[in-house]
Amino acid sequence: MTTTARPYVGTALDRVEGMEKVTGRARYAYEHSPDELAYAVPVQASIARGEVRAIDVQAALTIPGVIAIIWHRNAPRLAPADNAELSVLQSARVAYRGQYIAVAVAETLQAAGEAARSLSVDYAGEPHDTELRADHPGLYRPEKVNAGYPTDSEHGDPDAAMEAAPIRVDATYSTPAEHNNPMEPHATVARWDADGLTLYDSTQGASAVRATLAALFTMPPANVRVIASHVGGGFGSKGQPLAPVVLAALAAKHVTRPVKLAVPRQQMFAVTGYRTPTIQRVRLGADVDGRLTAIVHEAIEQCSTIREFAEQTTTPTRIMYAAPNRRTTHRVVKLDVPTPSWMRAPGEAPGMFALESAMDELAIACGIDPVELRVRNEPDADPESGEPFSSRNLVACLREGARRFGWADRDPTPGARLVGRTLIGTGVAASTYPAYRSPSQASARLEPDGRYTVRIAATDIGTGARTVLTQIAADALRTSPDRVTVEIGDSALPPATLAGGSMGTASWGTAVVRACEALREQVSRSGDLPSAGLEAAADTKEEIGAQERFSRHAFGAQFAEVGVDVDTGEARVLRLLGVFAAGRIVNPKTARSQFIGGMTMGLSTALFEESLMDREFGDYLNRDLAQYHVAACADVRDIEAVWIEEDDPHLNPMGTKGIGEIGIVGTAAAIANAVHHATGIRIRDLPIRLDKLL
Ligand code: MOS
Repeated sequence: MTTTARPYVGTALDRVEGMEKVTGRARYAYEHSPDELAYAVPVQASIARGEVRAIDVQAALTIPGVIAIIWHRNAPRLAPADNAELSVLQSARVAYRGQYIAVAVAETLQAAGEAARSLSVDYAGEPHDTELRADHPGLYRPEKVNAGYPTDSEHGDPDAAMEAAPIRVDATYSTPAEHNNPMEPHATVARWDADGLTLYDSTQGASAVRATLAALFTMPPANVRVIASHVGGGFGSKGQPLAPVVLAALAAKHVTRPVKLAVPRQQMFAVTGYRTPTIQRVRLGADVDGRLTAIVHEAIEQCSTIREFAEQTTTPTRIMYAAPNRRTTHRVVKLDVPTPSWMRAPGEAPGMFALESAMDELAIACGIDPVELRVRNEPDADPESGEPFSSRNLVACLREGARRFGWADRDPTPGARLVGRTLIGTGVAASTYPAYRSPSQASARLEPDGRYTVRIAATDIGTGARTVLTQIAADALRTSPDRVTVEIGDSALPPATLAGGSMGTASWGTAVVRACEALREQVSRSGDLPSAGLEAAADTKEEIGAQERFSRHAFGAQFAEVGVDVDTGEARVLRLLGVFAAGRIVNPKTARSQFIGGMTMGLSTALFEESLMDREFGDYLNRDLAQYHVAACADVRDIEAVWIEEDDPHLNPMGTKGIGEIGIVGTAAAIANAVHHATGIRIRDLPIRLDKLL
């Protein structure tokens, strides 16, 4: 064995599966085609609330190649699920327009599609309510919000402090529903045999899909195998099994043949989750010198009638700034809408749009530079828990960003820079994202040829996870990456947490390091005896459970320059700079992609993304990429992400914080703040459409 210590973490290793991907050898879920394959096309409800009384399947069954039409009358029974979204075709009830009510299975995709379209459905419709309003009588206080956070928090007397504050901001911000659109739509190939169920699934977490599907079909998890070797993005929408994978498994069981199901892009606007719309009121009270005395952040959001999903929208406000008097709340209303789900930085992205816009409004109200205002309100410890931060370099990010961006010369006067027919402005906002870890297992083996194999049921959703785990393993084994094969993307591997919550590298990396350390120990103990074939395993449950109490978060600062056309109102982001402090960066090449990918999605949030509810029909109107606008290459001009390396010993053996989501946090506020600087118009309602600027 070579003995160089940790030389590969921190280097820009090329993606280890890059060649496989660019040559088309990397196979995604839909590209698996077992023998006897049949195709499934799901059918969606065309009412927003009510019951399916009957489905006339006669015409469909006469179409050549059609094998079955499955609906609640003839569907295989599933065990009850905590998440009612998974109880596919188990009852006549329709909880939202677009919910799956049947599936057509045929020899070809074309025949299945024709059969699906030919069904005649008899509904008993009921009046529906799909409108989120701040005064909705159905608003309630959920017991917890997502990720287990308390629903509300209160410290001191925020109302009295607001009353007494010489400078006040009281503003309501809103963010629209947004739909996840990974390049690869959700897809599953399901096959049953004597051993149980095999799924080739486009998922962020094979272990979770295995556990969920085993429970639904009342089988031991060992009888379910989930393979997700390559995944074309997820952004949270593939973070948990949803209706499509269940429908594929159920259809394959019914027809006793392997079944392939790809969710058409249009169906993704109903069945694979979305970011809940929010209405957020932020109140900030401050002294004349800009020191915050009160922070109140109250969020209203929606979920479906069948599953509570309470986004943690105001939780970033709990850790951002020092103020003795504070309140954060979440209220939810159950509407006849699809169930929202995770979408990149769920909570932090909409929540920080509101908070960081309000901070800009406060800076103007106080006449203080917005960078300086944030620096002045930097807390010594986590303002809610009182715990020390494991590391917190927001101020360094703001200062470094200001330096690189050329912030010092900024004239704060809004609407003062007209170049030709374009108003130019600049804005800043802070970013943050928690640094989580979740228990995982891994194994490491020394092969007879002297190479190493590391196994863990991690997933690479396009982030470079396989590559960074190879670097981490190489360092832990004191070898080079080309002598390490990391096997991931299969539930048959040691179980691991999902690729979500920006905690993949930290969680999996910990397990990989521990397994590799244990293997090195075994090899050294074996002395002169042959060590080939030695294998070690690790489980990080205890280690993570016993970790010291710290407030662990990544921070960043985003700077935007925008141009707004005075005649058309069109806003363009001319420059975007993100400076992040997110622990040690394992691979600068893949990390940069994560940061600028998140920032691009933030730009898209600021200017384009918006799912529009049709109240009459009760569903989202725009349902493809022609109608649901996302930032294209031409929208992203000058974008750069840089980072401040942090040496934080309180995180994990690698010293890493998550980087997958922080890039989207704060971006929209930086852009909205820049739009205000350019035009004097404060947009508190995303996206920043041109009609709002005219
Ligand atoms: Mo991410 S929304 O936690 O997959």
